[in-house]
Amino acid sequence: MPRFFARSILIFIVSATSFAGPADSETAQLSYLEESRNIAKEFMQALGGTLKKQLETGNAESAIGICKRIAPEMAVGYSKDGRVVKRVSLKNRNPLMGLPDEWERQVLEDFDRDFHDGKPAAEIEKVAIVQEPEGRWFRYMKAIPTQPMCLQCHGTPNDIPEGVKAVLAKEYPEDKATGYKAGEIRGAISIKRRM
Ligand code: HEC
Repeated sequence: MPRFFARSILIFIVSATSFAGPADSETAQLSYLEESRNIAKEFMQALGGTLKKQLETGNAESAIGICKRIAPEMAVGYSKDGRVVKRVSLKNRNPLMGLPDEWERQVLEDFDRDFHDGKPAAEIEKVAIVQEPEGRWFRYMKAIPTQPMCLQCHGTPNDIPEGVKAVLAKEYPEDKATGYKAGEIRGAISIKRRM
């Protein structure tokens, strides 16, 4: 009798842990998703607001520093507590930090496809659990729409003031991040977190 009792306790513990596993990770995934959405929103709003102010009080040339210094600083600031936060693009300006990894590249291509199929850029996002050589990651990407104010530095040659062209040519000789129209996807915020 005691043996039977012990075995049923063991079975109970085993089944309880095997149920607790997926339930826990589902809860974790939901909280990571909420956290990622908040970071993406906060990042874009804060950067957009700072950029807008600088464009209004100064000019596009003087606002280059915002994108060059403040945006990467913000990304580094959010990259803590096991998270990595980046801004990536298929046509990156920053040759290192703006370059997508393989998973990000595929997601950005899907985002462009969704956009061309009629989905508004502001609604496009992707969530996945990705197995990588160093472990399992929760990954999130949110499309960054091109706003009219972005065109001064990311638009067609007619949109970009000569002074900006000169600075970009000097500082980003491998710049690919021009030729955009308002509404198009400029890139994405990418957030990964170890599971
Ligand atoms: C004043 C010029 C300027 C304006 C306006 C501007 N950007 Fe940029 N953008 C830059 C520069 C410079 C970089 C490269 C920053 C770096 O070195 O990391 C950049 C980089 C980026 C990147 C990172 C990926 C990459 O290409 O390297 C994204 C995404 C981006 N910009 C989106 C936007 C959006 C969206 C807007 C409008 C809300 C905008 N930018 C407005 C100058 C500008």
